[in-house]
Amino acid sequence: MSTHIGAEPGDIAERVLMPGDPLRAKWIAETYLEDAKCYSTVRGMLGFTGRWNGVEVSVQGSGMGMPSASIYAHELINEYGVKTLIRVGSCGALTEDLQLRDVVAAIGSSTDSNMNRMRFDGLIDYAPVADFGLLRTSVEVAERRGITMHVGPILAADAFYTDRPDLYDTLADYGVLAVEMESAALYTIAARFKARALTILTVSDHIKTGEKTTSAEREQTFSQMVEIALDTAIA
Ligand code: HPA
Repeated sequence: MSTHIGAEPGDIAERVLMPGDPLRAKWIAETYLEDAKCYSTVRGMLGFTGRWNGVEVSVQGSGMGMPSASIYAHELINEYGVKTLIRVGSCGALTEDLQLRDVVAAIGSSTDSNMNRMRFDGLIDYAPVADFGLLRTSVEVAERRGITMHVGPILAADAFYTDRPDLYDTLADYGVLAVEMESAALYTIAARFKARALTILTVSDHIKTGEKTTSAEREQTFSQMVEIALDTAIA
């Protein structure tokens, strides 16, 4: 096993979906994958491997925030040979161009995290971006499935609760669609270790209007997002 994942080499597929919530990982595995088997329960951060349309796919919880997601992305790639990582999660909309339950693919991710400032010694503002091939495939899959998917830049924030909502407005002025808490680290680590990454999100709450989805609504749109992610992972 690696430091935080209780799997043997070969237990984890080359293609992994990464929801933040480990119980979402369980739900995805049980709902979508054939012959799903749990390979790790370490810290309750569940991971499963099964098959989607005959192709091996794993689903690994990442936890919330970039420190947690970084650990799982790093170990999946470097200890288990994972090549494709697709985060599936929720986000808060920063612009009225988005509505609750919309699906968003993150082309790139601005961040207030200090992790990349440390990586580049404060000298470079590195721009974490999605893998172009995965992004293109996800757009094709969404079109084929008849699901409207917004594609654009997002913010990966360290804090869920902020004293500076004015910064969200400024980011929206620059075209940033939504806020979540993991994508910048996922994109950076995938780039560093030659893997491919993409983040697909559904809008769970609206920062401008204060609206929130119900859990039933979240489940339905979560399904559309997971189906896009699974088809993209095996394409
Ligand atoms: N902020 C950060 N992450 C989120 C949010 C939010 O409002 N909603 C869903 N993920």
